[in-house]
Amino acid sequence: MARTPVIVGNWKMNLTRSAAADLVNALRAKLDGVRDVEIGVCPVATVIPSIAPLLAGSAIRHGAQNVHWEDSGAFTGEISGEMLRELGCTYAIVGHSERRQYFGETDARVNQRAKAALRWDLTPIICVGETLEEREAGKTLEVVGRQIRGCLEGWSAEELKKAVLAYEPVWAIGTGKTATPEQAQEVHAMIRGLLTELFDADTAQAIRIQYGGSVKPDNVKSLMAQPDIDGALVGGASLKAEQFVPLVRFRD
Ligand code: PGA
Repeated sequence: MARTPVIVGNWKMNLTRSAAADLVNALRAKLDGVRDVEIGVCPVATVIPSIAPLLAGSAIRHGAQNVHWEDSGAFTGEISGEMLRELGCTYAIVGHSERRQYFGETDARVNQRAKAALRWDLTPIICVGETLEEREAGKTLEVVGRQIRGCLEGWSAEELKKAVLAYEPVWAIGTGKTATPEQAQEVHAMIRGLLTELFDADTAQAIRIQYGGSVKPDNVKSLMAQPDIDGALVGGASLKAEQFVPLVRFRD
């Protein structure tokens, strides 16, 4: 089954409004003609309202880096799905390893946040991935399997079909150490196998699984050539047009 690749930039806590506008304009100039790859950028929430109009009518969609599980209420510092919907967001990243590491996100919370995204017609990009310690202890497949089960517990196949998964080994994020295409493929194939078991083969074949962790123009082709890698979630290299453009145009 042909899955449209999805390449999304996670800008993390970078770029103020003017720098974001410059980047978006540079990306539009080079990416507006791309039709065979789904493209997204996830700026900090404060920047979304200023870049949304700049992206209107372009091939580039925008999203947020997190979403709260409730729709409103006493949750200081949080943003709801309804609020993101109002800003024209397409995606909400949930369960990024930095959220798990620094802000105590658990699989149960990630599950709730992803469900909230679906309620507001946002595509949750659900992140999973093992630490270096877990990999070295030979626990990668066990850890990622547990995260997938926890993040998707209670989900229907119909719900899952609206999500994107991202495998991001923690040791590869921001370190310049990419997983080899074979290491990434092994985990992606395990995830697809697990989805077949938990849901059904059609759903497992339809769902897109991104790889993330030091994806750069020089390694994107070999990663994307793997049968179960359907896109990339990109941090550092998404902040510069010279790097993000060739990533999206990996087929050129
Ligand atoms: P990186 O970040 O590309 O800078 O390694 C990836 C991510 O955190 O999504």
